[in-house]
Amino acid sequence: MRNETVLLLILLLSALLRSGSSSDTFNATQSIRDADVLVSVGETFVLGFFSPSDSGQRFLGIWYARVSGPTVVWVANRENPLNDSSGALSVDSLGNLIISSNNSASLVWSTNNSFLPAEVNSSPVVQLLDSGNLVLYQDVDKKVILWQSFDHPADTQLPNMKIGYKKTSSRTWSITSWRSYDDPRPGNCTYMADPTGYPQMFLYKDGAPHWRTGPWTGSRWSGIPEMRNKYIFNVFFVNDGDEFSITYTMINTSILSTLVVNETGTVDRMNWIEQEHRWTPMYSAPGEPCDYYNQCGPNGLCDPYKADQYMCSCFPGFQPRYPNHWSLRDTTGGCVRNTGASICQSGEGFVSINNTKLPDTSIAQVNMTMTLMECESACLRNCSCTAYASATESGGGSGCLMWYGELNDSRTFNIGQQIYIRVDAAELARETKMNSRNGDKKVIPEIMVPVLAAAFLLVLVFVILIIRHRRGGRRLPALWPRTPNNPSSVAKPLDTKELDRTSKSDAGLPSFKLSSVADFTDNFSLSNRLGVGGFGTVYKGVMSDGTEVAVKRLSEFSRQGDEEFKNEVNLIARLQHRNLVRMLGFCLEDNEKILVYEYLPNKSLDAFLFGWLTLSNWVGPICLDKSKKSLLDWRIRFDILTGVARGLMYLHQDSRLRVIHRDLKASNVLLDTAMQPKISDFGMARMCGGDQSEGTTNRVVGTYGYMSPEYAMEGVFSVKSDVYSFGILLLEIISGKKISSYYDEGSSTNLAGHFWELWKGGRCMEIVDESIAVDEPHSWKEVLKCIQIGLLCVQELPTDRPTMSTVVFMLGNETVLASPQQPAYTIRKKNNMGTTNNSSSDSAASINQATISIIEGR
Ligand SMILES: *[C@@H]1O[C@H](CO)[C@@H](O)[C@H](O)[C@H]1NC(C)=O
Ligand SMILES: *[C@@H]1O[C@H](CO)[C@@H](O)[C@H](O)[C@H]1NC(C)=O
Ligand SMILES: *[C@@H]1O[C@H](CO)[C@@H](O)[C@H](O)[C@H]1NC(C)=O
Ligand SMILES: *[C@@H]1O[C@H](CO)[C@@H](O)[C@H](O)[C@H]1NC(C)=O
Ligand SMILES: *[C@@H]1O[C@H](CO)[C@@H](O)[C@H](O)[C@H]1NC(C)=O
Ligand SMILES: *[C@@H]1O[C@H](CO)[C@@H](O)[C@H](O)[C@H]1NC(C)=O
Ligand SMILES: *[C@@H]1O[C@H](CO)[C@@H](O)[C@H](O)[C@H]1NC(C)=O
Ligand SMILES: *[C@@H]1O[C@H](CO)[C@@H](O)[C@H](O)[C@H]1NC(C)=O
Ligand SMILES: *[C@@H]1O[C@H](CO)[C@@H](O)[C@H](O)[C@H]1NC(C)=O
Ligand SMILES: *[C@@H]1O[C@H](CO)[C@@H](O)[C@H](O)[C@H]1NC(C)=O
Ligand SMILES: *[C@@H]1O[C@H](CO)[C@@H](O)[C@H](O)[C@H]1NC(C)=O
Repeated sequence: MRNETVLLLILLLSALLRSGSSSDTFNATQSIRDADVLVSVGETFVLGFFSPSDSGQRFLGIWYARVSGPTVVWVANRENPLNDSSGALSVDSLGNLIISSNNSASLVWSTNNSFLPAEVNSSPVVQLLDSGNLVLYQDVDKKVILWQSFDHPADTQLPNMKIGYKKTSSRTWSITSWRSYDDPRPGNCTYMADPTGYPQMFLYKDGAPHWRTGPWTGSRWSGIPEMRNKYIFNVFFVNDGDEFSITYTMINTSILSTLVVNETGTVDRMNWIEQEHRWTPMYSAPGEPCDYYNQCGPNGLCDPYKADQYMCSCFPGFQPRYPNHWSLRDTTGGCVRNTGASICQSGEGFVSINNTKLPDTSIAQVNMTMTLMECESACLRNCSCTAYASATESGGGSGCLMWYGELNDSRTFNIGQQIYIRVDAAELARETKMNSRNGDKKVIPEIMVPVLAAAFLLVLVFVILIIRHRRGGRRLPALWPRTPNNPSSVAKPLDTKELDRTSKSDAGLPSFKLSSVADFTDNFSLSNRLGVGGFGTVYKGVMSDGTEVAVKRLSEFSRQGDEEFKNEVNLIARLQHRNLVRMLGFCLEDNEKILVYEYLPNKSLDAFLFGWLTLSNWVGPICLDKSKKSLLDWRIRFDILTGVARGLMYLHQDSRLRVIHRDLKASNVLLDTAMQPKISDFGMARMCGGDQSEGTTNRVVGTYGYMSPEYAMEGVFSVKSDVYSFGILLLEIISGKKISSYYDEGSSTNLAGHFWELWKGGRCMEIVDESIAVDEPHSWKEVLKCIQIGLLCVQELPTDRPTMSTVVFMLGNETVLASPQQPAYTIRKKNNMGTTNNSSSDSAASINQATISIIEGR
């Protein structure tokens, strides 16, 4: 692998460094041969020859001296590798820096400068600077630079390096990915500036736009809201008509930071954490589906934060070009003007949309001196102007951007810019009416709530007094179902202001008002978002008494009526078990269906197991924290899987409801402070209008890998489908490997198949997670037993699989276990969007059965 090779190389080199002498400079009389290196003065960078793969091909490159991980930042002879170690770097008689080889007739690489005679006759000096820049100076006083590697970037933008272009010297600075992780030849992904219209940066993949930064807003790219946080970088942006470029420098120069175009088609910003000796990804784009270029087609708007609707919609005044395709979620056709729209006639105007990434500006024109008002009238005057916006954000916005044509590749952020879309008189009237209605709505909560609440309180007190009186002082039934085994979490009496009295439920489960739930979660703000799943979005909330809660806002695909839904919620709320997450209340208002749960600060099992915080949005640095995994020793893991088994058994058998979970997976197992597991999302299928007993369903809810074959293929589900998911979860807990990682790697078998192979060969311990300390014989036996139980759970035929009560019994007792049959299927995911596998694939899985394909195993 690239990283290991480089690491090895560094080790070799450091040995070499200690013995030989190394400097950062050489002149025309000297050369750097294959075994030599240059080391920058601060020992930050090394220049030398390296082989990224076993093929023996040699490249001249620059890499970090003291870093492991992806370290090669520049490669000279990318397109023409040496076949042996006969290469040498030197300065030729014309003053060019060249790589030559005695075994090659032609030059391997040359800086190709055509110098003036004065320059040639000088005595050039080559130096590797501590910034990672290889510089060819005209002579020893180092005043005139003839050539520098920073003008010819490879796949990495280092601090102080420019990306952009300069027209007068017809120079472009762009970065291009490697062909693969061990092949530095130029690959298919390039990050560069596009000078058309109002300039912006693009990531091209196979020559087509893949991701766009959006235009510069004065302090950041329109499409990268997190660039507002300037605590690490100083950013220098130039756009003077001739040069368009961006340069980063580090505020603390001892922090290493790179921007790399990955061969997989992402732009990754990474920082080196010295203390922990590793690279941390800071951001990676494109990340979510809305980041991909023109995801919703021309004149479409991509909004990933709509919990209850499809992410694509049309700009106001537009409708889907191909409604049939659109409803099948093929949005490439985008949107066209509403039929009968009368653009360029009197009465037309603009509708504003907040928080957008501005559309592709390659068809936009800019005037930095216009005010927004002048911008509006200028746009209105020209019939082909479709939208306008402020060009910069600073000082409340200044300058004027006008689009002449299709509005491509726009999306919503929770922090973004305002854009004004041209609409005809009819549409304008419609929008104005809608806004004023929204305006009226606002008045009610703000002014009337205290009044109404006070009135409610009065009535409530009155009613309570009457009831007490009638019952002769008997206490009211508790508002709250008690949970004696967990006294600390018994809720305090709720603030009655937050309750919706008109919709009280028979189980005594509180029903919250929408406005209160919105308050808990800071209006469902992005920063409170914990994650997105197949059934909706989860937010963290704080009730007015300080209790932390998790708020689940269900997405639209509940097909149940309100009454029916309420009944289900009340049934589900009665399920109480120490291994199930407790429901605290619900909200049913304005078509919103919201569930309020206890909040578990330890997050979900997958965060621990895979060192991975599910990232559904792009706020702040991304944390991948493998260290958490070591917290999970075998005892804790065993307790977790026993707890999950008990919780599932309760759902299947002990409760009178018989609930089939249908989406059991690591991210649906939450951990409390004592690392006790609590199953979440149970009963979702019931609540969301799924079938209620064994049977078939035409919509498969669930997550790839965890779905039993009969469920994934035929939609047949039963308690045994949950047993299958439990088996997969168990194998994940033991191996510390994600089931989905097997699809990513394109391997022909899956996790269960892998376990099975090793089981047959008696080599199971090979796959056991290394952070399980299984040194004592007792644990070994227990681990093996659990693997066997796991394999029993993932057998092909549902009838062969044990029930959950059998599983609980087997876990808790010394018994003779049956021999498992081979797990029969390998389910592979067909990635039809060509996007990377991210958290939203969960929801995609539950929407479209057609994305599942089955490959016969053996
Ligand atoms: C090149 O460098 C070497 C060693 O530093 C020095 O002895 C030599 O004079 C230099 N040659 C020229 C032409 O500067
Ligand atoms: C390496 O070998 C290939 C194939 O034999 C050849 O085309 C190429 O020119 C060689 N490269 C050098 C630098 O000699
Ligand atoms: C090429 O051959 C000459 C003469 O044998 C030798 O002096 C020189 O160092 C060689 N160059 C390289 C790059 O191996
Ligand atoms: C130098 O020029 C030659 C011939 O024009 C070309 O093949 C080669 O790729 C150029 N090298 C570089 C590093 O641009
Ligand atoms: C790069 O793109 C070309 C043409 O689209 C394609 O044939 C080739 O397979 C791609 N290479 C990689 C590494 O994706
Ligand atoms: C800069 O970063 C280094 C390494 O992370 C740290 O030790 C040092 O204290 C930082 N300096 C400042 C001024 O923050
Ligand atoms: C590209 O991405 C892959 C997968 O995320 C990663 O393993 C690899 O190290 C990355 N390559 C570079 C050059 O950063
Ligand atoms: C959009 O933003 C403006 C300015 O920040 C604000 O006045 C307006 O109310 C917002 N409109 C909507 C619909 O949120
Ligand atoms: C920008 O707008 C101002 C005021 O409308 C106008 O005077 C100026 O010519 C415009 N500049 C350009 C480059 O169009
Ligand atoms: C409208 O703007 C376009 C693009 O700038 C320009 O080509 C066209 O002449 C303008 N039309 C009028 C009537 O000003
Ligand atoms: C918008 O995107 C479509 C396809 O996605 C492309 O055909 C069209 O040329 C683009 N329009 C502009 C103005 O960039």
